[in-house]
Amino acid sequence: MALDLLHFGDVHFPGALRGWRASDLFSKKLVGLVNVKLLGRGHKFRHANAVVEAMLADIRRTPPDALLFSGDATMLALPREFANAAERLGVTDNTLPPGFAVPGNHDYYTKHAERAGGFERAFAPWQTGIRVDDHMYPFARRVGTVWLIGVNSSYQGFGIGASGTIGSAQLARLQTLCAGLSEGPRILVTHYPLRDSRGNIERASHRLRDHVSALAAAEDCGIGLWVHGHIHKPFALPPTAAIPFPVICSGSATQEHRYCFNRYHIDGRTLTMTRRVYDPPTAAFRDGEVLEMELN
Ligand SMILES: [Fe+2]
Ligand SMILES: [Fe+2]
Repeated sequence: MALDLLHFGDVHFPGALRGWRASDLFSKKLVGLVNVKLLGRGHKFRHANAVVEAMLADIRRTPPDALLFSGDATMLALPREFANAAERLGVTDNTLPPGFAVPGNHDYYTKHAERAGGFERAFAPWQTGIRVDDHMYPFARRVGTVWLIGVNSSYQGFGIGASGTIGSAQLARLQTLCAGLSEGPRILVTHYPLRDSRGNIERASHRLRDHVSALAAAEDCGIGLWVHGHIHKPFALPPTAAIPFPVICSGSATQEHRYCFNRYHIDGRTLTMTRRVYDPPTAAFRDGEVLEMELN
């Protein structure tokens, strides 16, 4: 039985930035505000609302079995931003296909935001699944013939760097979780990439810090496909001798000049990826690159 999934990420809805705390003035959030307000980062996402409307229309026209969201709903992880993002994405709209979401680094922009769990509250309907004890991450959900496995690779890190980590404790839970899952291809969903678009390890300030142990854990878990976000330009890496499964980046759904998401058609172990690209004159998405790969 074939299965259709839709993968998008890095929506970074602008606006809704009021509500930040005075104590954040001395935190990384201030740097973010400067970036958004003064360096024009927000400007790149100024059409996000309209583009997400077009994406939802695309979803309703040809509904997939599930929506995969690989994080970065917000810019600064403010409570108002989470509420706005969840509403615009239709997180509680039962007429849309079920969603499956993991947080991005922007959704944990400060230690306070990470601890407060704003992402997890706003996206709770998209985070249902099987867990190990009462730990939030990882979690797994069966959709048709496959298992979706959500891993959190984001944390409020050091200084103003943008590296990610999964952590040894979560990787150990991933092993436990996978050991209890039934047969079927396993799709890992993270925010951080395993490699860059050329298949290289990213620079230290941006990489998934524990990429070596994460790859080993993914192999042990029998991962058939790893999908992620964070890099706003989309790409797909076919399986290699070093990495036995395809690794696919959604790109940003809403960043100007990049606007895209992926549709995955999975039939047995054959994956057909169709990139959907936003066309501003028609305010609609159209087919872009099409790739066929084998799941591990
Ligand atoms: Fe992002
Ligand atoms: Fe990110």
